[in-house]
Amino acid sequence: MREHMCCHVLLAARATVRLGVAVVMAAAVLTAGGASEAQTPPSSMAIGLGLALSPADIERYAITVFPDGRNLPPGRGSVEQGSRLYAMHCAACHGAQGIEGPAARLAGTDGFIGWSDPLRPLRVRKYPLQVLSVGAMWPYATTVFDYVRRGMPLHAPKSLTDAEVYAVTAHLLHLNGLVPGHAVMDRETLPLVVMPGRARTVNAWALEP
Ligand code: HEC
Repeated sequence: MREHMCCHVLLAARATVRLGVAVVMAAAVLTAGGASEAQTPPSSMAIGLGLALSPADIERYAITVFPDGRNLPPGRGSVEQGSRLYAMHCAACHGAQGIEGPAARLAGTDGFIGWSDPLRPLRVRKYPLQVLSVGAMWPYATTVFDYVRRGMPLHAPKSLTDAEVYAVTAHLLHLNGLVPGHAVMDRETLPLVVMPGRARTVNAWALEP
């Protein structure tokens, strides 16, 4: 019985302490709120992480090119210019013909081996590198442009001008037999290139009507 009483007293004491703490906290919040409204501007209440971006900063990052070619920049580049740029900036990693590696294979339109191909396990063993390539897999030429512009060359992304990216993209398309050697790519011509990978993929971007 004594034990029982004891527990009651303890619980009551704890509840009182908790109530006290809550009252003190509420009072603190009220005081802080009142004080900040009266004296401190709201911005000084911010945690202080991150930076506000200016419109010029945002422009540097808002470079997404959509599958239908929306947001492609001005500029143009030919297959021939692209082949020179490719030798200088890309061949060391992707190989002279875009197939030797060591980095990802960039050429090979007929090498795609569909999952429905019953002989796939045999073919994959024979041509392991042909399964994936720009020509086999990429659904839109505009996406190749976007990728190269934002990510390549790997050690110096965004170091090429837009015209140079058009040119290397033209060269990659030519390596894949998708455009002739005299082709010139720009915001008009690039979206017209039909990629073999398109039929094998699903578009996650809503296209404008
Ligand atoms: C320093 C090595 C290096 C250089 C130089 C380089 N790349 Fe790459 N590239 C890579 C690597 C590694 C990948 C694979 C990246 C990944 O999967 O995340 C890649 C991937 C790619 C892909 C995507 C391939 C695919 O199907 O997934 C393209 C296209 C590409 N590079 C184009 C270029 C072009 C064009 C240049 C020259 C302007 C270039 N790369 C220069 C290393 C390089």
